[in-house]
Amino acid sequence: MGNIILRPGWHIKESAATPHSFYKNRRSFIKSLGLGAIGLATTTNLACAGDRARTAEVNGTTQPRPQPNGPLDTIPANATRVGYPAARNGAFSVSERPESGRLVASSYNNFYEFDASTKRVWPLTADYDPFPWEIEVSGMVEAPQTFDLDALIRSMDLEERLYRFRCVEAWSMTIPWTGFPLAKLIERCNPLSSATFVKFTSVNRPQQMPGIRNQPWYDWPYYEALRIDEAMNEVAFVATGLYGEPLTKQNGAPLRLVLPWKYGYKGPKAVTKIEFFDRQPGTFWNDLQPGEYGFLSNVNPNIPHPRWSQATERFLLDENTQQRIETKLFNGYGEWVGNLYPNEPRDPSGPIIR
Ligand code: MTE
Repeated sequence: MGNIILRPGWHIKESAATPHSFYKNRRSFIKSLGLGAIGLATTTNLACAGDRARTAEVNGTTQPRPQPNGPLDTIPANATRVGYPAARNGAFSVSERPESGRLVASSYNNFYEFDASTKRVWPLTADYDPFPWEIEVSGMVEAPQTFDLDALIRSMDLEERLYRFRCVEAWSMTIPWTGFPLAKLIERCNPLSSATFVKFTSVNRPQQMPGIRNQPWYDWPYYEALRIDEAMNEVAFVATGLYGEPLTKQNGAPLRLVLPWKYGYKGPKAVTKIEFFDRQPGTFWNDLQPGEYGFLSNVNPNIPHPRWSQATERFLLDENTQQRIETKLFNGYGEWVGNLYPNEPRDPSGPIIR
């Protein structure tokens, strides 16, 4: 069980989290091994699974899979490149701080499906082969359908948007994303007028993602949700690329949500399913620890996390340079989204709403 202790700073203690899913998953994991000694069994079993995944069939022989040489060597070889580099949309400038370097944006990541205990995720992505990719649409829609991502990207006008990015852990960057407005994708899904929420589910590929294999206590796959009015907001973005090229695997290839007025965890990576509801669906972190991670999770310096302040953030300019700066209400996107949240505190004396 040694690896259960390896958690990032913002994650809850194991003793504090007792969601049903944790025990359900761990129980079925132990059961699948037919053993009670989870530590020993885990090590043995995962070593085998990892070895299988690190090899590939080439011309009838088993070869070791090539490992990425660096964080920019993880753009899937068959990613759709039509429309790149896209013209920047000038409506979303970030005047008060510079763009973060490409290397830090692709080497300091949270992608728990690869490993929750490190930001250095890119070396773990060799086995992940995203393409071809489909997105399944279901729930309260006129008709369920499946999008082929390559065809979807080719049918959209790609644009670039420079956005502030703020993690709940209080670090931040400024990143140029390539993609299209989430509203355009929602429209193509043809939701019923009675649908009020939309849920996004990430891919679940234990053979390709070591964090799914090695951390069975999480309720995989990762899932997130928004109110429809949030999803239709002009700022909500589907990213298929960053820095003028398709997404690296660790940044969420082949597509992810970017919701810059919310904490980063509201933006699921590697989305493969979209469902519409007339009631609020659960979300990964809110289900795990509702006292710490709310459904709305808007960036708000007036709502401290129960264990740390959110008033300031560590802005990462590049791998060697960071700066402590003040956090902006709605991360500086109040002009677009402020009217969606009349009850959120505009100053430090307001009510605490997560
Ligand atoms: N999506 C999935 N599927 N799995 C994850 O672990 N982490 C979230 C979010 N989306 C996560 C995810 C968190 S906590 C953050 S801060 C951002 O992705 C990080 O995005 P980045 O690595 O591109 O900076």
